[in-house]
Amino acid sequence: MINDQATMLRNELKTARFVTVASGKGGVGKSLVTMNVAVSLSKMNKKVLVIDMDVGFANLEVLGGLHLKHTLKDFFSGVDLGEIIEKTKYGFWLLSSGNDVNDIYAFQMGERERLFSEFQKLGSEMDYILIDMGAGYSELMDNIYTITDDFILVITPEPTSIMDGYTFLKILSIKELKSRMLLVVNMVNDLSEGRILIKKFGEVITKFTSLQFEKSYSILNDPRVRRSVRDQKPFVISHEKIQPTFGIIGISSAIAGRDYKNNAPKKMSFANKIKRFFRLER
Ligand SMILES: Nc1ncnc2c1ncn2[C@@H]1O[C@H](COP(=O)(O)OP(=O)(O)O)[C@@H](O)[C@H]1O
Ligand SMILES: [Mg+2]
Repeated sequence: MINDQATMLRNELKTARFVTVASGKGGVGKSLVTMNVAVSLSKMNKKVLVIDMDVGFANLEVLGGLHLKHTLKDFFSGVDLGEIIEKTKYGFWLLSSGNDVNDIYAFQMGERERLFSEFQKLGSEMDYILIDMGAGYSELMDNIYTITDDFILVITPEPTSIMDGYTFLKILSIKELKSRMLLVVNMVNDLSEGRILIKKFGEVITKFTSLQFEKSYSILNDPRVRRSVRDQKPFVISHEKIQPTFGIIGISSAIAGRDYKNNAPKKMSFANKIKRFFRLER
């Protein structure tokens, strides 16, 4: 009886946090960061669902050497969401938006009411819902920005990536993004390059937008990371003692250790968040 009550209480308190990984420019390491953070959080015994939202270009499966039976488009032709969201060999669950034209079409035209009700059941069992976004700003994804608890921007030291990252945040700042902001400077040549960029970029963002980074992380450009992509294996598993892995653990700890009490998106119920997520309401 006491056990039952404890379980009930836990279930009531449980509400999955949304973590969005985004960037202005493509090819900066979003998907790699997302997957490795997912693995790292799973190792901390957290239940993590990753949604590959790079609709039409989803590639998390390839990065992880995973072979999902379904993508979201199968949902719209009648397959249960529970079959489409698959548990991976790394401990996290994965929902893929798919990587062909039919997937894009299904995503735009599909029937969302059913998606909402099934997702509400499955999603609420998770601790974290990680969203791997496509590059750049897209109005179609506006609702995701408004519900996310943590927003992770990934940039690299390339001027184009810095510029696109800035422009992207400028837009989100006008849209009044309310999430906690984390910055990841990926593929730096050494940690001092990372520190300098974190300082400069942070100052520009604070000065010219209404946003501010709470925490920032550097990840080294490391040939072993590139190799892990070729081997289709998360580097936090194949290389436990390299700096990029420590960076990922830092980011994961920031997510898991966060006190969400004073968080604006948190005030929205889980049901309302996923309604927005699936663009059922604004
Ligand atoms: N820290 C790193 N060190 C070395 N190569 C990296 C690193 N991060 C990313 N890469 C390279 O960049 C490529 C693109 O990464 P990916 O996560 O697919 O980018 P995005 O999702 O932003 O388009 C990877 O395939 C890998 O070769
Ligand atoms: Mg990607």
